[in-house]
Amino acid sequence: MNSKPPSGRCLKQNILLAVNNLPPMPQVMHKARDIIQNPISGLKDIGDLIESDQALAMKTLRLANSAYYSRMGKVSSVQEAAVVLGLRVLGELITVAFMSKALCSSLKGYDLPAESLWRHSLAVAVGSRIIANKKYPALANEAFSAGLIHDVGKLILDRYILQRKEEFLEFLAGGEQVFLVAEKEILGFDHAEIASEVCKRWNFPKSISVAVKYHHHPSLLRGNKLAYIVHVADEIAILSGMDIEGITFEIDDKSIQKIGIQNNEIELIVDEVMKSVNQITGLIEDGT
Ligand SMILES: [Fe+2]
Ligand SMILES: [Fe+2]
Repeated sequence: MNSKPPSGRCLKQNILLAVNNLPPMPQVMHKARDIIQNPISGLKDIGDLIESDQALAMKTLRLANSAYYSRMGKVSSVQEAAVVLGLRVLGELITVAFMSKALCSSLKGYDLPAESLWRHSLAVAVGSRIIANKKYPALANEAFSAGLIHDVGKLILDRYILQRKEEFLEFLAGGEQVFLVAEKEILGFDHAEIASEVCKRWNFPKSISVAVKYHHHPSLLRGNKLAYIVHVADEIAILSGMDIEGITFEIDDKSIQKIGIQNNEIELIVDEVMKSVNQITGLIEDGT
């Protein structure tokens, strides 16, 4: 006889344990962050670090030569890429390379094929960076990272949803409830809360873990620009055809107004996001 999966407090503990059991962020990510944050460290340090990981070195070169990152001609070595791109972009490349591995699996509980989560996350990252560059340039780097990791909670919750698929279908049957509420009601956490826990586990800055926690309800965090940016970029990813939130995604009406973005700008961002995601995913899918 099948035993019933745990619920209530026991289930919540299991989910938090799953977050704690996630593999730690690779050393190369930590080192890269240290180097980028330490103004004394030079481009050579980060170049050496990237060269110590062959797969990362290949991806860096490929990305550095892509139209998205470089408009300055071909580069043939990691050290050259470091000079052309600078520390910030190299840090971003390392994050993209790591997250592409972490986010590319299929999610059976959410009915998402392989790479849907990855493409969506990348679209939100790129969209967040574009919006930040237009309205709050100082937030551009954080916006990119927050966008990339905002839905990582789905990776954790997926198997718990799969175990309780019928309960979810029943909860959603009337068409009045959204999936996010089903997560909270049935599992005790929604994917945004769990994504925020993953940010803590992976030592992301607090500003990112907070924005990620409220990416579906940015108005609850008065004045947090980062949460609004990720929320609007989530909507833009959906408009760009990279939707994993489903028709149940509820746009927070105040967010577009708060960010100060116009409708004609949104159309342009959608185009740019689609182009950039296709470029980056094409470059990163090299089987390494
Ligand atoms: Fe989400
Ligand atoms: Fe999302």
